[in-house]
This record gives sequence, C-alpha cells and structure tokens, in this order.
Amino acid sequence: MEYQEAIKQAAQLIKVHNGFYALTGAGMSTESGIPDFRSPGTGLWEKIDPIATSSAEVLHRNPKLFYEVGFTRFVNISRAEPNPGHYALAGLEDLGLMKGLVTQNIDGLHVRAGSKKVWEVHGHLRTGSCLGCKRRYPFAVLVQQVEQKSIPPLCEHCSSMLRPDVVLFGDQMPRLFFEARETLQKDCDLLLVAGSSLVVYPVADLPRLAKHLIIINLEPTAYDIEADVVIREKCGQALTELLSLLK
Ligand code: APR
Ligand code: ZN
Repeated sequence: MEYQEAIKQAAQLIKVHNGFYALTGAGMSTESGIPDFRSPGTGLWEKIDPIATSSAEVLHRNPKLFYEVGFTRFVNISRAEPNPGHYALAGLEDLGLMKGLVTQNIDGLHVRAGSKKVWEVHGHLRTGSCLGCKRRYPFAVLVQQVEQKSIPPLCEHCSSMLRPDVVLFGDQMPRLFFEARETLQKDCDLLLVAGSSLVVYPVADLPRLAKHLIIINLEPTAYDIEADVVIREKCGQALTELLSLLK
C-alpha cells in the first residue's frame, strides 16, 4: 500500500475506533539524535553490549564499569529534545484521540512534549534512587557526582550507592507495565505502534491485546502480517501527517 493511502487508512481507523493507544520504541527518538538498538548499521547493539556495561548485575558487581561506561549513554540520552513525532502524539492526545501511551523509551521525551497518560515501562532518566534508604534524587545529582569523579554516586543521607530509575537488564518489570497491560487488555480496540522492532518481551506481547493494529516503522516487524495498516515511513513525518488529517 503506498504511503498516502496508508496514512488515510490509519486516520480512518482512528476515527472509526474513536481513538487509539500508542506503543512506542527507540525509533521514535532517532530523529532526536538518540540511536536505536537494532536498526541495521546504526543500531547500538551492533557496537556495544549493553549487558556488559549497564545491567543490574554490573551495577552491583562492578559499579565503576557501570558508571564509567554504561552511564555515559544515559547522560547523552537525558540531553536530547523531543521531535515532531513526540509533539504529534501529544497533539493527538489533546484531541482526545490518543487514550494512553506505552513507551519502552527512557528518554522522557513523550512527557516533555506534553503527553500526559504515559506508561514509561522501562523507567526514565528524571531521577535516581538510593539503594539503601530509597531516597530519590534528581538525575542531575548523579551526573554531577560522576562528572566530579565521585564514582559510584552516593546518598547524602546514608552513603549507600545511587542508581538511575531506569529498568536495567536483569531488573523486574515495574508495576507500571502490568497496569498498562491490564488497561490494554480491557480497552484496546486499536493500537498504534511507532518505532519499535517488537522483539523484546514482555512488551512485544502487547500488540496481541489489540483488536486492530497500525504499525509505523522503517523496518518490517513480526506483527506486520497482522496489522491493518503498515506505514514504512519516519515517525516524525507519519505522525505529523496523521495529526493534520485528524485535526
Ligand atoms: N521512524 C520510524 N521507525 C524508525 C525510525 C524512525 N525515525 N528510526 C528507527 N526506526 C525503527 C527501526 O527500523 C527499528 O525497527 O525503529 C525500530 C527500533 O527498534 P529497536 O532498536 O529494537 O528499539 P525498541 O523496539 O525500542 O527496543 C526495545 O530493547 O534493548 C532493549 O531496552 C531496550 O527498550 C529497548 C527494547
Ligand atoms: Zn540513602
């Protein structure tokens, strides 16, 4: 199906189903300068092994490696800005069409673009927490300590180690994920997936809960065959055009 036809069909589906839920992945933020994980040639996992530098196990076993190597990626991500795709989804929520947004991204760009009902199921980079007394700190406090070579960053109250409030490889999925899944189980007629390869479980199970599916992604996904509409275009452009058709 050619692009213009696909966009019109997607807009039509959103109207017929009185709105949609969104599920986004790293492909939403490549236009904000954050590399994704699996794009051929540019995906991060082709260059580094995240398990080796930023997993929960490395944080506890080798905090120096975690904070001298793995943490740098988090700092870079925290400095990105929302792009037109993030703003378009926030606009679709303002129109009452996007009912909620599940994101695998930790960059917080949906929230910064104005989206309100957001389940950040892999956490975010706004804060960090103390492993001892659980106190929360602004993420900037962790960055400042690391930049001043105080590694690992420590709690001012109990001197235990601080960690970013992201879901690390090896962590349990947060309560937020189960809340999002329950909502989609109950109420998801139409799911719009934007910028995800849909290969990481349990999030990659969520599209099964939707009766209808729109996929906006530059590469094919395993769910394309079941989708009502597949849009092989950049999220920024496709979502901005969708918003203009539905305004
Ligand atoms: N527009 C549309 N699609 C894009 C764009 C773009 N501008 N840029 C990249 N893509 C597509 C890629 O083709 C790819 O299929 O987005 C998809 C991103 O897939 P992944 O890199 O696998 O990212 P994601 O699906 O979010 O990965 C899920 O894996 O490593 C873990 O914790 C990490 O949250 C992440 C999870
Ligand atoms: Zn503490």
